[in-house]
Amino acid sequence: MNVWPGPNTETLSINGSYPGPSVVIAKGSTFTANFVNNYTEPATIHWHGLNVPELMDGHPKDSIPPGGNYTYTFPVLNRGGTYFYHSHADMLTAEHVYKGFAGFFIVDDPAEIGLGLPRGNFDIPLCIQDRRSVNIPQFTYNPLMNDIMNGFLGDAPLINGTPDAYFDVSRTLYRFRLLNGSNARIYKIAFSDNRAFHIIATDGGLKDEAVQVTSFFLSPGERTDILVDFSPYTIGNSVILKSLPFTAPGAGTYVQGTEMNLLRFDITDNTGSGGLIPAALPPINYYSISDVKTTRTFTLTMIMGGMNMHRINGLTFEMNRIDWETPQNSLEEWRIINASNMLHPMHSHSEQFQVYSRNGSTILPPEDKGWKDTVLINPFETVRLLVKFNNYKGIFLFHCHNLEHEDDGMMLNFKIVDPVGVNSQSENAPEEFRLHQNYPNPFNPSTKITFDIPKSGNVTLKIYNASGNEISTLVNEYKPAGYYVLEFNGRDLPSGVYYAKLKAETFSESIKMLMIK
Ligand code: C2O
Ligand code: CU
Ligand code: CU
Repeated sequence: MNVWPGPNTETLSINGSYPGPSVVIAKGSTFTANFVNNYTEPATIHWHGLNVPELMDGHPKDSIPPGGNYTYTFPVLNRGGTYFYHSHADMLTAEHVYKGFAGFFIVDDPAEIGLGLPRGNFDIPLCIQDRRSVNIPQFTYNPLMNDIMNGFLGDAPLINGTPDAYFDVSRTLYRFRLLNGSNARIYKIAFSDNRAFHIIATDGGLKDEAVQVTSFFLSPGERTDILVDFSPYTIGNSVILKSLPFTAPGAGTYVQGTEMNLLRFDITDNTGSGGLIPAALPPINYYSISDVKTTRTFTLTMIMGGMNMHRINGLTFEMNRIDWETPQNSLEEWRIINASNMLHPMHSHSEQFQVYSRNGSTILPPEDKGWKDTVLINPFETVRLLVKFNNYKGIFLFHCHNLEHEDDGMMLNFKIVDPVGVNSQSENAPEEFRLHQNYPNPFNPSTKITFDIPKSGNVTLKIYNASGNEISTLVNEYKPAGYYVLEFNGRDLPSGVYYAKLKAETFSESIKMLMIK
């Protein structure tokens, strides 16, 4: 690829192109792509923000080996909006994306035509990435300790793969779909003359109102669509889309918050887009905090030095460990507590969520409000979000979208499971009593034990050691019919064999578990 004038850049290209070709597809249609991996490393394609079946999600467990191929196909269920795709290979995501493995996935909802937003040549996707000028013309990826700590940051912005980018515009209204496709850099998007513009969409498509701003934050993985009116300018004027300086932790040659010119707009003619700033947008049904069935807490930490510095609840990613189960159709609150002096854009796969509060305030900045799949958690902030998974069961990821943090292990697996049965009449209740094998197994020091009870009643679940002595009681109470997940933590116990024994009505069963410390 010819990224900079002069010698070629070696990129990880898709169909010969960097950035990858843009997919534009109508909501409701079926997307199909055959992925042929002609690279020397395993890779997957993850459809970021899209609600797809487990085996279409590009989870690193489903990597396609070098020389292999795989057909991704799924119905496009998402709302109209700006999504993207990128490699999600185990511990190689950051390198693959840095080398070019990413592209737009735009869902067009024909129902939006009536809103009068700018379309066609006046609806422009802009992918913002940063690279290191010291390595021009190569996308050299050689992170050192400081880069793994803070993320691999560059000083040379590329817009849709173009350095020193400029774009000829008319004196009219445009829609720009901004995607932060950078590994780690956060942008504070604004214009050089501080002109006002409107935010109309977040990660999961249109907001319920166009909100006027002069700047907003865009962290890796996030998308924000804006409307910009160039009619106040005269032909021959220019205005620059830039990233404003801001203060953030970190030190060294490359830091967050560096002021950058991203894209120069040259005003060159008078053609009208016919688009308008909508006075109203279709409403969004906001989840209600009072409907929350389960609250989960995720604490983000950083321990200096070595591997796996960045963690969620003290855990580092394990491909085959499932960190929690979330029942379908059940509203959850995820409370993300950033206990580190770092910026973490947290991203969930499968369905879009809604931010409920940031640091206790439910009055949210416009880039937070609406449907989201990635949310920036600033140092020592707490963000609460509301999420529900309706469509697909299976194993999905929750991780930091600072890709160096992700590859360092700041990622967990969760499993979307059958809905919780409320009573024995419910069609969602299990059919029989069952105590499932714990996972992970072997474990250290904690493991999950799941059981199903088809009828409400008294249930006990006790843990015994190898010599049959009772160690602890996890459950001893009346339980409604349903699927249950419990955690057994053997922190203070020695390695060895343990048994879990479930008793409900006349049913009783044991499983054997192994703790290896
Ligand atoms: Cu764009 Cu799992 O990420
Ligand atoms: Cu994703
Ligand atoms: Cu992070």
